[in-house]
Amino acid sequence: MANILQPTEENLRDLRKFLLFGGLVGVPTETVYGLAANAFDAQACAKIFEAKQRPANDPLICHISGVEALEQICYANPLAIRLAERFWPGPLTFVLPKKDKIPGIVTAGLDSVGVRCSAHPEFQRLVAQCDFPLAAPSANPFAYISPTTAQHVEAGLGSKIQFILDGGPCAFGVESTILDLRDESQPRILRYGALPAEEIEAELGRSIEKPAATSADESVQHLAPGSLPKHYSPRTPLDLRGGIATSELETLPPKTAALLLAKPQQDRGKNVHWLSEDGKLSEIAANLFAKLRELDEAGYSRIIAEEAPELGLGLAINDRLRRASFR
Ligand code: TXA
Ligand code: MG
Repeated sequence: MANILQPTEENLRDLRKFLLFGGLVGVPTETVYGLAANAFDAQACAKIFEAKQRPANDPLICHISGVEALEQICYANPLAIRLAERFWPGPLTFVLPKKDKIPGIVTAGLDSVGVRCSAHPEFQRLVAQCDFPLAAPSANPFAYISPTTAQHVEAGLGSKIQFILDGGPCAFGVESTILDLRDESQPRILRYGALPAEEIEAELGRSIEKPAATSADESVQHLAPGSLPKHYSPRTPLDLRGGIATSELETLPPKTAALLLAKPQQDRGKNVHWLSEDGKLSEIAANLFAKLRELDEAGYSRIIAEEAPELGLGLAINDRLRRASFR
Protein backbone atom coordinates (compact mmCIF):
# COMPACT_ATOMS: atom_id res chain seq x y z
CA MET A 1 0.00 0.00 0.00
CA ALA A 2 1.19 3.51 -0.82
CA ASN A 3 0.92 6.48 1.55
CA ILE A 4 -1.64 8.96 0.26
CA LEU A 5 -0.31 12.38 1.29
CA GLN A 6 -2.10 15.70 1.55
CA PRO A 7 -0.36 18.66 -0.15
CA THR A 8 1.05 20.34 2.98
CA GLU A 9 4.27 22.36 2.73
CA GLU A 10 6.10 19.70 4.69
CA ASN A 11 4.86 16.83 2.50
CA LEU A 12 5.76 18.71 -0.68
CA ARG A 13 9.28 19.34 0.65
CA ASP A 14 9.67 15.66 1.53
CA LEU A 15 8.33 14.53 -1.86
CA ARG A 16 10.76 16.82 -3.66
CA LYS A 17 13.64 15.21 -1.81
CA PHE A 18 12.28 11.72 -2.46
CA LEU A 19 12.04 12.53 -6.20
CA LEU A 20 15.51 14.12 -6.28
CA PHE A 21 17.01 10.88 -4.96
CA GLY A 22 15.27 8.67 -7.49
CA GLY A 23 11.84 7.85 -6.01
CA LEU A 24 8.51 7.47 -7.81
CA VAL A 25 5.46 9.50 -6.74
CA GLY A 26 1.84 9.39 -7.92
CA VAL A 27 0.88 13.01 -8.68
CA PRO A 28 -2.35 14.84 -9.50
CA THR A 29 -2.70 16.89 -12.67
CA GLU A 30 -5.77 18.63 -14.11
CA THR A 31 -6.11 15.83 -16.72
CA VAL A 32 -5.30 12.47 -15.09
CA TYR A 33 -2.94 11.36 -12.29
CA GLY A 34 0.68 10.83 -13.31
CA LEU A 35 3.50 8.62 -12.07
CA ALA A 36 6.43 11.01 -11.62
CA ALA A 37 10.20 10.63 -11.47
CA ASN A 38 13.18 12.99 -11.84
CA ALA A 39 13.47 13.30 -15.63
CA PHE A 40 17.25 13.82 -15.40
CA ASP A 41 17.67 10.48 -13.61
CA ALA A 42 17.63 7.56 -16.06
CA GLN A 43 17.45 4.94 -13.31
CA ALA A 44 14.47 6.61 -11.66
CA CYS A 45 12.70 6.81 -15.03
CA ALA A 46 13.42 3.13 -15.67
CA LYS A 47 11.37 2.40 -12.54
CA ILE A 48 8.34 4.08 -14.17
CA PHE A 49 8.46 1.62 -17.06
CA GLU A 50 8.83 -1.26 -14.64
CA ALA A 51 5.98 -0.20 -12.34
CA LYS A 52 3.57 0.38 -15.23
CA GLN A 53 4.78 -2.62 -17.26
CA ARG A 54 5.11 -0.09 -20.06
CA PRO A 55 7.05 -1.04 -23.21
CA ALA A 56 10.36 0.80 -23.57
CA ASN A 57 9.34 2.24 -26.96
CA ASP A 58 6.59 4.41 -25.43
CA PRO A 59 8.04 7.86 -24.51
CA LEU A 60 7.23 9.81 -21.32
CA ILE A 61 5.95 13.37 -21.04
CA CYS A 62 8.10 15.80 -19.00
CA HIS A 63 6.44 18.35 -16.71
CA ILE A 64 8.01 21.75 -16.18
CA SER A 65 7.06 24.86 -14.22
CA GLY A 66 6.52 27.23 -17.13
CA VAL A 67 7.68 28.72 -20.44
CA GLU A 68 10.98 29.85 -18.92
CA ALA A 69 11.89 26.22 -18.09
CA LEU A 70 11.50 25.00 -21.70
CA GLU A 71 15.19 25.58 -22.36
CA GLN A 72 16.05 23.12 -19.57
CA ILE A 73 14.98 20.20 -21.72
CA CYS A 74 14.28 21.16 -25.34
CA TYR A 75 14.85 23.56 -28.21
CA ALA A 76 11.70 25.65 -28.35
CA ASN A 77 10.78 27.64 -31.47
CA PRO A 78 8.78 30.91 -31.54
CA LEU A 79 5.52 29.06 -32.22
CA ALA A 80 6.00 26.85 -29.14
CA ILE A 81 6.67 29.90 -27.01
CA ARG A 82 3.64 31.70 -28.38
CA LEU A 83 1.32 28.72 -27.75
CA ALA A 84 2.82 28.11 -24.30
CA GLU A 85 2.17 31.73 -23.38
CA ARG A 86 -1.41 31.38 -24.59
CA PHE A 87 -2.35 27.94 -23.20
CA TRP A 88 0.00 27.17 -20.28
CA PRO A 89 -0.47 26.22 -17.58
CA GLY A 90 -2.96 23.82 -19.09
CA PRO A 91 -3.65 20.49 -20.80
CA LEU A 92 -1.40 20.98 -23.85
CA THR A 93 1.81 18.97 -24.48
CA PHE A 94 4.35 19.97 -27.12
CA VAL A 95 6.70 17.62 -28.93
CA LEU A 96 9.99 19.48 -29.54
CA PRO A 97 13.64 18.55 -30.25
CA LYS A 98 15.20 17.35 -27.01
CA LYS A 99 18.39 18.47 -25.30
CA ASP A 100 21.05 15.92 -24.35
CA LYS A 101 20.34 16.35 -20.64
CA ILE A 102 17.16 14.30 -21.05
CA PRO A 103 18.17 10.63 -20.99
CA GLY A 104 17.19 8.48 -23.95
CA ILE A 105 15.02 6.21 -21.81
CA VAL A 106 12.59 9.12 -21.20
CA THR A 107 12.01 9.68 -24.91
CA ALA A 108 12.22 6.00 -25.89
CA GLY A 109 15.29 6.83 -27.98
CA LEU A 110 13.58 9.59 -29.98
CA ASP A 111 15.39 12.87 -30.51
CA SER A 112 12.27 14.79 -29.43
CA VAL A 113 10.61 15.20 -26.04
CA GLY A 114 7.01 15.72 -24.92
CA VAL A 115 6.77 18.70 -22.56
CA ARG A 116 3.91 20.19 -20.61
CA CYS A 117 3.10 22.59 -17.78
CA SER A 118 0.17 21.42 -15.67
CA ALA A 119 -2.42 23.78 -14.23
CA HIS A 120 -3.09 21.66 -11.14
CA PRO A 121 -2.32 24.03 -8.21
CA GLU A 122 -0.80 21.46 -5.81
CA PHE A 123 1.19 19.71 -8.53
CA GLN A 124 2.40 23.12 -9.71
CA ARG A 125 3.70 23.81 -6.21
CA LEU A 126 5.64 20.54 -6.28
CA VAL A 127 7.04 21.15 -9.78
CA ALA A 128 8.05 24.70 -8.80
CA GLN A 129 10.05 23.34 -5.85
CA CYS A 130 11.90 20.83 -8.01
CA ASP A 131 14.90 22.16 -9.92
CA PHE A 132 14.54 19.23 -12.30
CA PRO A 133 11.69 18.32 -14.69
CA LEU A 134 9.32 15.50 -13.75
CA ALA A 135 8.78 12.72 -16.26
CA ALA A 136 5.23 11.47 -15.68
CA PRO A 137 3.04 9.23 -17.79
CA SER A 138 -0.47 8.45 -16.61
CA ALA A 139 -0.36 6.43 -13.37
CA ASN A 140 -2.14 3.30 -14.59
CA PRO A 141 -0.83 -0.18 -15.37
CA PHE A 142 -0.05 -0.20 -19.10
CA ALA A 143 -3.19 -0.19 -21.31
CA TYR A 144 -5.70 -0.04 -18.39
CA ILE A 145 -8.08 2.85 -17.65
CA SER A 146 -6.29 6.08 -16.64
CA PRO A 147 -6.61 7.22 -13.00
CA THR A 148 -8.51 10.37 -12.06
CA THR A 149 -8.28 10.06 -8.25
CA ALA A 150 -5.51 9.15 -5.78
CA GLN A 151 -7.56 6.04 -4.93
CA HIS A 152 -7.43 4.89 -8.57
CA VAL A 153 -3.63 5.18 -8.47
CA GLU A 154 -3.56 3.18 -5.24
CA ALA A 155 -5.79 0.48 -6.76
CA GLY A 156 -3.53 0.04 -9.81
CA LEU A 157 -0.01 0.74 -8.56
CA GLY A 158 -0.25 0.88 -4.76
CA SER A 159 1.87 -2.22 -4.33
CA LYS A 160 4.66 -0.74 -6.45
CA ILE A 161 5.03 2.84 -5.19
CA GLN A 162 5.50 4.47 -1.80
CA PHE A 163 3.74 7.83 -2.14
CA ILE A 164 0.74 9.38 -3.84
CA LEU A 165 0.07 13.12 -3.58
CA ASP A 166 -3.68 13.62 -3.18
CA GLY A 167 -4.94 16.54 -5.26
CA GLY A 168 -8.61 15.50 -5.40
CA PRO A 169 -10.45 14.32 -8.52
CA CYS A 170 -9.01 15.57 -11.84
CA ALA A 171 -10.96 18.48 -13.33
CA PHE A 172 -10.70 17.46 -17.01
CA GLY A 173 -10.58 13.65 -16.78
CA VAL A 174 -8.92 13.00 -20.15
CA GLU A 175 -5.23 13.42 -20.99
CA SER A 176 -3.55 16.49 -22.45
CA THR A 177 -3.70 17.29 -26.15
CA ILE A 178 -0.36 16.48 -27.80
CA LEU A 179 0.88 18.86 -30.48
CA ASP A 180 3.93 18.09 -32.60
CA LEU A 181 5.77 21.39 -33.09
CA ARG A 182 9.10 20.09 -34.38
CA ASP A 183 8.33 21.67 -37.73
CA GLU A 184 6.94 25.14 -37.06
CA SER A 185 5.39 25.34 -40.49
CA GLN A 186 3.44 22.12 -39.93
CA PRO A 187 2.01 21.83 -36.44
CA ARG A 188 0.16 18.57 -36.02
CA ILE A 189 -2.04 17.07 -33.33
CA LEU A 190 -0.83 13.62 -32.27
CA ARG A 191 -3.44 12.97 -29.57
CA TYR A 192 -6.84 14.53 -29.03
CA GLY A 193 -7.06 15.69 -25.45
CA ALA A 194 -8.47 18.08 -22.90
CA LEU A 195 -7.64 21.19 -24.92
CA PRO A 196 -9.94 21.07 -27.98
CA ALA A 197 -8.14 21.22 -31.34
CA GLU A 198 -10.51 24.02 -32.39
CA GLU A 199 -9.03 26.30 -29.70
CA ILE A 200 -5.52 25.82 -31.05
CA GLU A 201 -6.76 26.39 -34.60
CA ALA A 202 -8.55 29.56 -33.52
CA GLU A 203 -5.34 30.86 -31.94
CA LEU A 204 -3.34 30.05 -35.09
CA GLY A 205 -6.01 31.30 -37.46
CA ARG A 206 -5.81 28.16 -39.63
CA SER A 207 -6.58 24.49 -39.56
CA ILE A 208 -3.93 21.98 -38.53
CA GLU A 209 -3.34 18.30 -39.21
CA LYS A 210 -5.24 15.97 -36.91
CA PRO A 211 -5.54 12.21 -36.38
CA ALA A 212 -8.34 10.34 -38.13
CA ALA A 213 -11.31 9.33 -35.97
CA THR A 214 -10.18 5.74 -35.57
CA SER A 215 -8.16 3.90 -32.96
CA ALA A 216 -5.66 2.80 -35.60
CA ASP A 217 -4.39 5.84 -37.51
CA GLU A 218 -1.02 4.42 -38.50
CA SER A 219 0.49 7.75 -39.51
CA VAL A 220 0.00 8.94 -35.92
CA GLN A 221 1.10 5.66 -34.35
CA HIS A 222 4.36 6.11 -36.16
CA LEU A 223 4.86 9.64 -34.78
CA ALA A 224 3.54 9.04 -31.25
CA PRO A 225 4.62 5.51 -30.37
CA GLY A 226 2.22 5.25 -27.41
CA SER A 227 -0.97 5.71 -29.45
CA LEU A 228 -1.87 2.05 -29.62
CA PRO A 229 -5.25 0.88 -30.91
CA LYS A 230 -6.00 -0.89 -27.61
CA HIS A 231 -5.69 1.44 -24.61
CA TYR A 232 -7.69 2.84 -21.68
CA SER A 233 -9.36 -0.57 -21.58
CA PRO A 234 -11.61 -2.12 -18.96
CA ARG A 235 -11.31 -5.91 -18.61
CA THR A 236 -15.02 -6.13 -19.46
CA PRO A 237 -15.54 -6.08 -23.26
CA LEU A 238 -16.81 -2.68 -24.39
CA ASP A 239 -18.93 -2.04 -27.49
CA LEU A 240 -19.19 1.47 -28.87
CA ARG A 241 -22.40 2.73 -30.48
CA GLY A 242 -23.20 5.87 -32.41
CA GLY A 243 -26.31 6.54 -30.35
CA ILE A 244 -28.59 4.52 -28.13
CA ALA A 245 -32.34 4.96 -28.44
CA THR A 246 -34.67 4.67 -25.48
CA SER A 247 -36.50 1.84 -27.22
CA GLU A 248 -33.31 -0.25 -27.20
CA LEU A 249 -33.08 -0.12 -23.43
CA GLU A 250 -35.88 -2.67 -23.13
CA THR A 251 -34.27 -5.26 -25.36
CA LEU A 252 -31.07 -5.48 -23.40
CA PRO A 253 -30.73 -8.52 -21.13
CA PRO A 254 -31.14 -7.18 -17.60
CA LYS A 255 -28.06 -7.18 -15.40
CA THR A 256 -25.70 -8.89 -17.83
CA ALA A 257 -24.85 -5.81 -19.91
CA ALA A 258 -24.37 -2.24 -18.74
CA LEU A 259 -25.44 0.67 -20.87
CA LEU A 260 -23.29 3.76 -20.63
CA LEU A 261 -25.13 6.81 -21.96
CA ALA A 262 -23.97 10.40 -22.42
CA LYS A 263 -26.98 11.62 -20.41
CA PRO A 264 -30.05 10.10 -18.71
CA GLN A 265 -32.95 8.78 -20.78
CA GLN A 266 -36.49 8.27 -19.64
CA ASP A 267 -36.45 4.52 -18.95
CA ARG A 268 -33.82 4.03 -16.32
CA GLY A 269 -33.10 0.40 -15.56
CA LYS A 270 -30.59 -0.71 -12.97
CA ASN A 271 -28.03 -1.45 -15.63
CA VAL A 272 -28.41 1.95 -17.32
CA HIS A 273 -25.70 4.46 -16.39
CA TRP A 274 -24.87 7.92 -17.66
CA LEU A 275 -21.84 10.18 -17.73
CA SER A 276 -23.53 13.54 -17.29
CA GLU A 277 -26.87 15.04 -16.29
CA ASP A 278 -27.26 17.18 -19.40
CA GLY A 279 -24.78 15.89 -22.02
CA LYS A 280 -22.18 18.59 -21.30
CA LEU A 281 -18.90 17.36 -22.80
CA SER A 282 -16.74 18.63 -19.94
CA GLU A 283 -18.85 16.65 -17.47
CA ILE A 284 -18.76 13.51 -19.64
CA ALA A 285 -14.95 13.73 -19.86
CA ALA A 286 -14.53 14.35 -16.13
CA ASN A 287 -16.61 11.25 -15.26
CA LEU A 288 -15.50 8.93 -18.08
CA PHE A 289 -12.60 6.98 -16.56
CA ALA A 290 -14.10 6.72 -13.05
CA LYS A 291 -17.35 5.38 -14.52
CA LEU A 292 -15.54 2.84 -16.69
CA ARG A 293 -13.72 1.58 -13.59
CA GLU A 294 -16.97 1.36 -11.64
CA LEU A 295 -18.66 -0.66 -14.40
CA ASP A 296 -15.58 -2.84 -14.82
CA GLU A 297 -15.78 -3.79 -11.15
CA ALA A 298 -19.54 -4.39 -11.17
CA GLY A 299 -19.30 -7.77 -12.93
CA TYR A 300 -21.20 -6.99 -16.15
CA SER A 301 -20.61 -9.29 -19.11
CA ARG A 302 -20.34 -6.30 -21.46
CA ILE A 303 -20.42 -2.51 -21.48
CA ILE A 304 -22.30 -0.83 -24.31
CA ALA A 305 -21.20 2.79 -24.50
CA GLU A 306 -22.58 5.69 -26.48
CA GLU A 307 -20.29 7.95 -28.52
CA ALA A 308 -20.09 11.67 -27.82
CA PRO A 309 -20.62 14.22 -30.61
CA GLU A 310 -17.51 14.46 -32.85
CA LEU A 311 -16.46 17.97 -31.90
CA GLY A 312 -14.45 19.77 -29.24
CA LEU A 313 -13.83 17.57 -26.20
CA GLY A 314 -16.02 14.93 -27.85
CA LEU A 315 -13.06 13.99 -30.07
CA ALA A 316 -10.93 13.17 -27.03
CA ILE A 317 -13.79 11.27 -25.35
CA ASN A 318 -14.48 9.19 -28.47
CA ASP A 319 -10.77 8.52 -28.98
CA ARG A 320 -10.61 7.00 -25.47
CA LEU A 321 -13.83 5.01 -25.99
CA ARG A 322 -12.65 3.66 -29.36
CA ARG A 323 -9.39 2.42 -27.92
CA ALA A 324 -11.22 1.01 -24.89
CA SER A 325 -13.45 -0.96 -27.28
CA PHE A 326 -10.61 -2.32 -29.45
CA ARG A 327 -10.40 -6.14 -29.46
O1 TXA B 1 -2.38 14.59 -19.51
C1 TXA B 1 -1.33 13.98 -19.75
O2 TXA B 1 -0.65 14.20 -20.75
C2 TXA B 1 -0.88 12.94 -18.71
C3 TXA B 1 -0.52 13.66 -17.42
C4 TXA B 1 -0.02 12.73 -16.35
O3 TXA B 1 0.42 14.64 -17.70
N1 TXA B 1 0.20 12.16 -19.20
C5 TXA B 1 0.06 11.22 -20.18
O4 TXA B 1 1.20 10.48 -20.43
O5 TXA B 1 -0.97 11.04 -20.75
P1 TXA B 1 1.17 9.08 -21.19
O6 TXA B 1 2.52 8.51 -20.97
O7 TXA B 1 0.06 8.26 -20.70
O8 TXA B 1 1.05 9.42 -22.68
C6 TXA B 1 2.15 10.02 -23.30
C7 TXA B 1 2.13 9.81 -24.78
C8 TXA B 1 2.99 8.66 -25.27
O9 TXA B 1 2.31 7.44 -25.22
C9 TXA B 1 3.34 9.07 -26.68
O10 TXA B 1 2.36 8.62 -27.57
C10 TXA B 1 3.31 10.60 -26.59
O11 TXA B 1 2.74 10.94 -25.38
N2 TXA B 1 4.68 11.14 -26.58
C11 TXA B 1 5.50 11.42 -25.54
N3 TXA B 1 6.69 11.88 -25.94
C12 TXA B 1 6.65 11.90 -27.28
C13 TXA B 1 7.58 12.25 -28.31
N4 TXA B 1 8.81 12.68 -28.04
N5 TXA B 1 7.18 12.13 -29.60
C14 TXA B 1 5.94 11.69 -29.90
N6 TXA B 1 5.02 11.34 -28.98
C15 TXA B 1 5.36 11.43 -27.69
MG1 MG C 1 -1.41 6.92 -20.58
